[in-house]
Amino acid sequence: MKIDDIKKICVVGAGNMGHQISILAALRGYEVKCSDVSEEQLRKAREFADKYLPGRVAKGKLTEEQARQAGENLEFTTGLKEAAEDADFVIEAVTEKLELKRKIFAELDQVAPPHAVLATNSSFIVSSMVADVTNRADKVCNMHFFNPALVMKCVEVVKGPHTSEETAGLAMELSRRLGKEPVELQKEIYGFLVNRILSAINNEALYLLDQGVASAEDIDSAVVNALGHPMGPFKLQDLTGIDLTYHVMIERYRETGDPADKPSPTVVEKYVRREWGQKTGKGFYDYSKK
Ligand code: 3HC
Repeated sequence: MKIDDIKKICVVGAGNMGHQISILAALRGYEVKCSDVSEEQLRKAREFADKYLPGRVAKGKLTEEQARQAGENLEFTTGLKEAAEDADFVIEAVTEKLELKRKIFAELDQVAPPHAVLATNSSFIVSSMVADVTNRADKVCNMHFFNPALVMKCVEVVKGPHTSEETAGLAMELSRRLGKEPVELQKEIYGFLVNRILSAINNEALYLLDQGVASAEDIDSAVVNALGHPMGPFKLQDLTGIDLTYHVMIERYRETGDPADKPSPTVVEKYVRREWGQKTGKGFYDYSKK
């Protein structure tokens, strides 16, 4: 397949990442079908698109015609088969649970056309952990976007030992056509580049909080004002989701058995209370009044 043959993109999962990847691709002229098992999630995704596109027109960032065309390019559905059966490129963006991803990749392999690339937007899981359930491992790779996907420029493309040069090349070129500045990892490593660095920062911030050294607000303020980050580690976890932090750490701990990989007491407490950040109205900060 050549890059110009990619016309239809399927995004699996309409959550934090999936809905924005879908809108991004629709804005760049691709026909996008985004699937999710949750009607509620799809409704929220559609509502976001219905607000976001006219908002961009009002801000002078899009013409009315571009917004209308993007809206037309975008379809939301609960049917995975319906979303994937004519796709040239599939981006999976479901919850960070390995067994779920393996189930979806096995299904995608059955329903997507044989030429379609199957990419995972996983935050940490390398694609060789899902490629083996397909009969097209050469067409499987990681393509990792950052939150908010409509804004952040980086995409990590990870070439697994099974991934062909052609597939990695297509994922890199597609990222560029989506307006991103992709980086290519020549070998698999858990957490890739960015989340390995980010995890080190988050773990240290959580350690300082759990030790009572400073408040979340002051740690965030220090990171913003001393290091020039756009937001501190706690505000950022509220954006990416504390449920994500929890799931990623639990999965990692199950795999390694290393106590250092256990989620911190604060993360466990927030997870259990459903204080997952912006998406539930409360995380390290309170969003209920907004
Ligand atoms: N969705 C879509 N667009 C958004 C947005 C959102 N949630 N939030 C902000 N934007 C857009 C605005 O529309 C605006 O666009 P414009 O300049 O073209 O009009 C632009 O972003 C700037 O927005 P604001 O002026 O309102 O706010 P800020 O300047 O504070 O920027 C931010 C907001 C882009 C989120 C910035 O704070 C930032 O870069 N934060 C760091 C985000 C980050 O580190 N992301 C990576 C997280 S790690 C990750 O994703 C890994 C994964 O595996 C979990």
